Amino acid sequence: MDKLRERRNLFILGVAIATSGLALYYMLSKKKKKLTIDQQLNLDRDKLHIINRIKDKYHISYENMVKIKGHILSEFQLGLQKVDGESQSSIKMLPTFITKKPNGTEEGICYALDVGGTNARAIKVKLDGNGKAEILETRKQVIPSSLMNGRGDDLFDFLAACLSDVLDEGAERYSIGFTFSFPVDQRNVRSGYLIKWTKGFNTSDVTGKDVVKLLDQALERAGIKAEITVLINDTVGTLIASSYLNTEHETIAGIILGTGSNAAYVEKQSSIEKLDEKDNDGIMVINTEWGNFDSPLYKYLIPTEQDIMLDKDSINFSQQHFEKMISGMYLGEIVRLELMELSESSLFRHNNSENILKPYHFGTEMMSEIEKDNTPTLSNIESFLSKLSIPNTTYFERKLLKELCTAVSVRSARLVAAAIAAIVEKVGKIDEHCIVAVDGSLYELYPNYADNIKNALNEMGYSKVILKLTKDGSGIGAALAAAVLSNE
Ligand code: GLC
Repeated sequence: MDKLRERRNLFILGVAIATSGLALYYMLSKKKKKLTIDQQLNLDRDKLHIINRIKDKYHISYENMVKIKGHILSEFQLGLQKVDGESQSSIKMLPTFITKKPNGTEEGICYALDVGGTNARAIKVKLDGNGKAEILETRKQVIPSSLMNGRGDDLFDFLAACLSDVLDEGAERYSIGFTFSFPVDQRNVRSGYLIKWTKGFNTSDVTGKDVVKLLDQALERAGIKAEITVLINDTVGTLIASSYLNTEHETIAGIILGTGSNAAYVEKQSSIEKLDEKDNDGIMVINTEWGNFDSPLYKYLIPTEQDIMLDKDSINFSQQHFEKMISGMYLGEIVRLELMELSESSLFRHNNSENILKPYHFGTEMMSEIEKDNTPTLSNIESFLSKLSIPNTTYFERKLLKELCTAVSVRSARLVAAAIAAIVEKVGKIDEHCIVAVDGSLYELYPNYADNIKNALNEMGYSKVILKLTKDGSGIGAALAAAVLSNE
């Protein structure tokens, strides 16, 4: 009997030892697996140091964010003042002569032509009078780079042709909202003189001219009977569209975060000192053109060597400094310039790919792909880079690239948050829920970008701001503005 018990005890002991042995092996092997990845980083202080250096270089601290917000606010105020000659503000604060927002009851069929960065888009919109807008037809065309750098008449003929594709045949005359997303000097809603091109455009014979007249002439050349009822910026369109679509809270601003970046907001006419005639009880939408903040000299932003290089080699040197740090056209180029430098010190050994060698060949959409990868070995980045003829990267190189993209995109989001906070403060809505309507591919598609703006706003105490994606706002807004004006 004793022997039997002894054997059973021995058996139980054996099973216990084997089980704990297995458990220990499993734990160790898990740890070992983890080590093989981290080994390449955490245990290598030099590599960790390089990554941290990049992170620090692009970091905007809470204190800096608050300071930048203050400087933007001062430039907003300065930009609204009356001056003899050139304004001292780097932010233009352009009056738009839009003095009414839609209330959701507008109805009918409207047309709009939307000329932004990369594309021209013509749309036919149905407004149903219940805060709903439906795009019935759309014609989108990439603006060829030959037209971005060619003759004005050719560009406007191209735009007229794009518009004619959505117009109903047989109508007597059409009323059209024209979204033209560049800085224009306006004296009324039906005209606007181009102040300067931005976003890589350099078409001749347009600067200083009335773009409505240029489009009118092109429509006439094409034999189209149409009237441009209203000219607006894309930010203004986004603001107007959101006022129609979202009636639960007031929309105070429209923002574009795409190829370029800019904001429009609703100001009291009594605060727009530079307006010659004003209704002191009325409002007017102001197109800030915040992309030019801190130009021509960097006084408040802290540019990296790469920012300075990008600016120097751009076709609009010393202009749009803020835009060059935040918008989709430039983020990829900042990363590319960093990669060039890292490859000089052999930290990223792949400088023979076109995407790294050629300016603007590393696009912001590539950063997006890179930031999306959350696999333990960053294997998606590896296959993505292989497709760009950048094969055989090490884990460290992939990790470095991902951290670089994050650093550059988070810097953009924090700078944007500072600028949004300046608008919220300008209109005195810090303690109220209000909507800031946003459109643009950077905001819509870039991983974590929208959350990074929201978190930065919360960090600064602007947690009541509701950021609302307003897709196609720029086009719908122009159609709506045309409808609001035709009801007058
Ligand atoms: C550029 C333009 C501006 C536009 C913005 C977004 O900054 O100057 O007018 O609103 O891009 O498209």
